[in-house]
Amino acid sequence: MKSSFLCTNCGNITSKWFGRCPECGEWNTLEEQEQIPQPAKGIKQNKVKSFAPAESSKAFKIRDITYSNNLRISTGIGELDRVLGGGLVEGSVVLISGEPGIGKSTLLLQLCQSIDASATLLYVTGEESVSQIKLRADRVGVDSERLFVLNETNIGRIIAEIKAVNPAVAIVDSIQTMFDEDYPSAPGTVTQVKQSALHLINIAKESGISIILVGHVNKDGAVAGPKVLEHMVDAVLYFEGDKQQTYRILRAVKNRYGSTNEIGVFEMGDAGLREIENPSELMLEQRPKGVSGNCAVCILEGTRPIISDIQALSTPTVFPSPRRMASGFDYNRLSLLLAVLEKRLGLRFSTQDIYINVAGGLKADDTSCDAAASLALISSLKDAPVPENLMVIGEVGLSGEIRSVFGIEQRINEAARLGFTQIALPFKAVGKCKGKYSGVEFIPVRSVFDLLKLLGI
Ligand code: TYD
Ligand code: MG
Repeated sequence: MKSSFLCTNCGNITSKWFGRCPECGEWNTLEEQEQIPQPAKGIKQNKVKSFAPAESSKAFKIRDITYSNNLRISTGIGELDRVLGGGLVEGSVVLISGEPGIGKSTLLLQLCQSIDASATLLYVTGEESVSQIKLRADRVGVDSERLFVLNETNIGRIIAEIKAVNPAVAIVDSIQTMFDEDYPSAPGTVTQVKQSALHLINIAKESGISIILVGHVNKDGAVAGPKVLEHMVDAVLYFEGDKQQTYRILRAVKNRYGSTNEIGVFEMGDAGLREIENPSELMLEQRPKGVSGNCAVCILEGTRPIISDIQALSTPTVFPSPRRMASGFDYNRLSLLLAVLEKRLGLRFSTQDIYINVAGGLKADDTSCDAAASLALISSLKDAPVPENLMVIGEVGLSGEIRSVFGIEQRINEAARLGFTQIALPFKAVGKCKGKYSGVEFIPVRSVFDLLKLLGI
């Protein structure tokens, strides 16, 4: 018998204690765990067993496999359906995670109301009492006759109740509060999270009940507990957003039944979460006008174009090495753009602190936002506002050239719909777009020099 140590963050097992987990790098997460029996001496460990062919382990020809088409249940929340890839798949297990207070419980409670009225639902809560749930339900207008609420953390009893109620969808809020009484460790530990999830996944697959798990996040923003939890479930959704702001973005990071490109946008209000079908309009409402350093940008989230504002601020530095800070924008990309602008246009960014931010908590992390970010940077440095109705699309190369990007047409459509009258495009793309949109002037930009012209410099 030999003791082993388990990392409570990533589930890594080591034979020695370390102050810092060698796998995930977290400090002070290794805990001694129950002793694991070692194989008796004399048994050859790497001997390959010969398995007799079992009846059930039969391979099928892919052509002979059939499935029923009617597998998805619409949640009644369009933005959630979009992220799930068209609705909840029967018998699937979805993990929704996000920071405390972001609105996971609210979203799932609202789902209980909006989902098909004939579906029975079970909301299991390990965090709040049933009366707290009722209070919230009254607040967001949830009054479904077929919704059951259970306050329990013992996974065995939860499974029994799921079997008794036999709901179409069961919600477990949250997986970190659940425990299996066969294991001595405390709820929230790797073993308990894994075991509880296993039980729930088994019942989902056996019975066709869809299960939604709520998961907490650790300080880095990833799902707390073992990474293996993310491997076990069918879909992992992250609910993110700035708690100070009212927008919330739901993003799929894994989805066995759909794309992970789509996002759902919500707004938190007095009566719970409201879907935002036209996020661009909302983002543009709050644009500052006539101020330098702001440039409209069109981000493609999956198939969905969203217009937001990219904001740059450049101020003379007081530090020996100037500060650079990027939020919603890639830090390395920012350094690259600054280097290109400094070299090609001779702009002295090296004496400036630079801050860059994408409004609304969106992420502009593909290269199609380069030109807009560069324009915002130049605009802030020169204190020359970008024209309000101008949108610029393109990638910036190391020689300062502006290159074409994917999804130009979708971006132009969205910009034209929202009243942008000037669209600056890579030279080659202009030819394709000219004449297709009335009231939109296309300005060709070949290199970062042309960006200066857009600002009238
Ligand atoms: P909640 O769903 O409890 O978050 P989570 O389950 O992710 O921890 O959301 C709680 C926050 O949302 C809380 O700070 C209050 C706010 N809220 C509203 O602003 N309006 C509402 O109608 C509700 C129900 C909550
Ligand atoms: Mg909650």
